[in-house]
Amino acid sequence: MKDLKLIAQQMTSKGKGILAADESTPTCSKRFEALGIKSTESARNEYRSTLLLTEEIEHYISGVILFEETFYQSIKGTNNPIPKYLKQKNILTGIKVDKGAKILANHNSEKITEGLDNLRDRLKIYKSNGADFAKWRAVITIGQDMPSEACLHANAHALARYASLCQENGLVPIVEPEVLMDGNHSIETCFQTTEKALQAVFYELNLLNVDLEAIVLKPNMVLPGNLSNESIDNHQIAEMTFQVLKKNVPEKVPGIAFLSGGQNSDEAAERLNLLNKLYIDKPWNLTFSYGRALQQDALFCFSKGDILGVKTALISRAKMNCLASLGQIIN
Ligand code: G3H
Repeated sequence: MKDLKLIAQQMTSKGKGILAADESTPTCSKRFEALGIKSTESARNEYRSTLLLTEEIEHYISGVILFEETFYQSIKGTNNPIPKYLKQKNILTGIKVDKGAKILANHNSEKITEGLDNLRDRLKIYKSNGADFAKWRAVITIGQDMPSEACLHANAHALARYASLCQENGLVPIVEPEVLMDGNHSIETCFQTTEKALQAVFYELNLLNVDLEAIVLKPNMVLPGNLSNESIDNHQIAEMTFQVLKKNVPEKVPGIAFLSGGQNSDEAAERLNLLNKLYIDKPWNLTFSYGRALQQDALFCFSKGDILGVKTALISRAKMNCLASLGQIIN
């Protein structure tokens, strides 16, 4: 377990964060098609290779989460498998191992993440092909009578089963209970729901003997719903996010890497920056594991055929979030 603890620390080490480039093919295709890009295997490979070929990315990015398709691809135009290429750049390789959020039976609008069947065997294969860590995303929806106890419990249990299997097989689990931003709920409701989700997750992780020193937590920030009329400033978001973590995340956890979850790229960086600027004395490192907030501008450039722009946009967002992870963005 010593190696896993070191990897978890390396993933969330000061001044670095994680690039989430693990959009499933349907999600990636939706984002490509919205910008008029045809989503073929080769186009996805070209886009993701371009991201990873960005010069000096290794100065800001500790690890990259890949979708299975990308994990087995080579850097476009070479025979260099992507996990091997990342290793050469001293970047850790992660892989999304869940099979997506599906309808939770008897709970109409709620989701349960699937993928536990054969997971042990799959993890062994990923490990032998160069994976250092894995990711599993649970989705919690806020709404009328939601989340149910059933949704919180079932998702927390699945996360813990996944995390214990990862550790058994030499991979650091990213544990991601995402409380969605969708809806007209208040920030207070998001706080309470995030608290319940974290409590359920740590209860199950402990029950399944998961070593908390060898995980990375990937939570949402505490935010009002995207359809809410509440006007909340970034200081309050940072404060409520910090409070929910302080109350519910054991100090043993080495690092917390936020998802961006639909925040715009500037907001995601500013809020992370405030968290690190205001709360210097905290037990875990706070950093980013952003998908959209790192890639949005880059994908736009890709849609215009501007390959240099893709790299410039990515490095600029990576640098900004690196500063945010140190609380050093000056407004
Ligand atoms: O699981 C979610 C992704 O890894 C992070 O994506 O930053 O766009 O929410 P996001």
